[in-house]
Amino acid sequence: MKKIFTGMMFLLSVFGLSAQQNKVSLIPQPVELQVMNGSWTLTGSASVGYNKSEGRKVAEMLAQQLNQPTGFKISAKQGTTAAIQLNLNATADAKLGTEGYTLVSGAKGVVITANQPAGLFYGMQTLLQLLPKEIESRKAVKASWTVPAVKITDYPRFAWRGLMLDVSRHFFTKEEVKRYIDEMVRFKYNTFHWHLTDDNGWRVEIKSLPKLTEVGAWRVERHGQFGSRLDPKPGEPATYGGFYTHEDIREIVQYAMDRHVTIVPEIDVPGHSMAAIAAYPELSCTKNPNTMVNPGTNFAEWYGNGTFRMFIENTLNPSDEKVYEFLDKVFTELAQLFPSPYIHVGGDECYKGFWKNDKGCQDLMKKLNIRHVEDLQGYFMNRVEKILTDKGKKLLGWDEILEGGISPGATVMSWRSMAGGIEAAHMGHDVVMTPTSHCYIDYVQGEVTIEPPIYASLRMKKSYSLNPVPEGVDAKHILGGQGNLWTEQVATLRHAEYMTWPRGWALAEVFWTPDEKKNWENFVKRVEHQFTRSDVGEVKYSKAIYDAIIRTRMKDGKLWVEMEPEAPGLDIYYTTDGGMPDHYSPKYSQSFEIPDGPVTLRVITYRNGAPIGHLITLKPADLKARAE
Ligand code: ACM
Repeated sequence: MKKIFTGMMFLLSVFGLSAQQNKVSLIPQPVELQVMNGSWTLTGSASVGYNKSEGRKVAEMLAQQLNQPTGFKISAKQGTTAAIQLNLNATADAKLGTEGYTLVSGAKGVVITANQPAGLFYGMQTLLQLLPKEIESRKAVKASWTVPAVKITDYPRFAWRGLMLDVSRHFFTKEEVKRYIDEMVRFKYNTFHWHLTDDNGWRVEIKSLPKLTEVGAWRVERHGQFGSRLDPKPGEPATYGGFYTHEDIREIVQYAMDRHVTIVPEIDVPGHSMAAIAAYPELSCTKNPNTMVNPGTNFAEWYGNGTFRMFIENTLNPSDEKVYEFLDKVFTELAQLFPSPYIHVGGDECYKGFWKNDKGCQDLMKKLNIRHVEDLQGYFMNRVEKILTDKGKKLLGWDEILEGGISPGATVMSWRSMAGGIEAAHMGHDVVMTPTSHCYIDYVQGEVTIEPPIYASLRMKKSYSLNPVPEGVDAKHILGGQGNLWTEQVATLRHAEYMTWPRGWALAEVFWTPDEKKNWENFVKRVEHQFTRSDVGEVKYSKAIYDAIIRTRMKDGKLWVEMEPEAPGLDIYYTTDGGMPDHYSPKYSQSFEIPDGPVTLRVITYRNGAPIGHLITLKPADLKARAE
């Protein structure tokens, strides 16, 4: 009986959701949402009230955000009777925690209640999404500013809901970083992982080591696919780059804090350090004075099984005390700039080939009784952790830090797969899940022959399917998860937006919404609604979900094609006769054999009789390559 009842409740909630869709479309989906009859309309006579002074900042931010598109002059006032009322509980409601909220809207207005200002802030994001899309406008526009009547109780599944932006491969200005943070918080992200250093640029001013930015922040100007660019010429001026001064960082950190975002800075060591070595060659084993900040050349060989070789040294020398003095200076300034309890120290993809041939490293190995050069990374990481601990900070690193042995206090960011995170959690480490399989938003999100190229693919549907707590893992060790935007192939903020959204919406729901409340079909409807809002907000996003997923395979010496839509409700039409496909062409229903000969496959998706996806053209060589 209970099962039948639960089943009915499930059906009700699914059908209920779609019936309410036109009125209410929220990302991430709240824990509890009840849509009621009626609505309230915001006018210029409304004000935003806050019952306690701690709510003032959120109230002022909300008033400002409402005034921009409406042209109203709504103000924030302390009190308890405003049309939009933000209330902090006198006694904490345990269910809401530090970031949860309730939102009740009806004929008289809107009341948001929370234990902490962060909860009011997330209630505010929900309220903005309840308003019509014109609320996203960057200038005053006309609209009916109606809020449907709802009752919402909402709180996050995870405390760590992050996005990482790599500002080393390409530099993003202070204003661009702020805009990226603005876009994150709309979907209740609370952690901005700032990848500040790498082989292609050092982006944070360290006053005691001025060459890090005088030299390390600049590289020669190159265009085209990163990883296949030409080497710097002798004497060529380094003109591309940039960095953040201490003043810039303080400003961005405050900006983020006002929006309840913690910035976790990353200094990637001991590998990925070519920009630092260009500034201070003595930090490496070979001490090559001609080392330059890399402009995106191919300087590594990857063997496909996780092993690799670097042609140019990009690793700090773990046997040199000067390296630890250097790191002490870097982390002293970093610890003063960033209130985050964590500092990310990288630890990924560290090539040890130069260590192997270095006399100092060999002597250190003897002294430490270490047989494998790989274990020197454990020594290095433990030294780094000690530096951080002395400054009151916790070490966070990519999952390679597990390999050399690390203290139980270290937190692990699991990227190569979930396995590192699972192992780390079993060992008692805290873990942030960010596996390439679901979280690498630099990967191609749609059809590879159309999208800007990179070496791997990740569809939004896959991102959405992530459960950051694998079976058998103690959930208390999984802090949450994160999407990572590496920017080798991302030169502008518009393109960063295109890569981030909509997969970043999928991950926002993964990190906020209870797993059992996730629903792919329903989510895609909300994504499409969000597309219209992003259009008004002038935020770029990808429509790759409308492109067919096309696979080929060889069967008995013949080439077979399988296709599926990513977004539900698409019809796939194709030709193999050289013609351009439309909705009179064959409609795909099951896998088929490509006729012998130099055949090109052309595919297009339609919905409700109108074309919606890109035209995809797969030449004979593409079809074959895909089967391999
Ligand atoms: C990484 O993607 N190298 C952490």
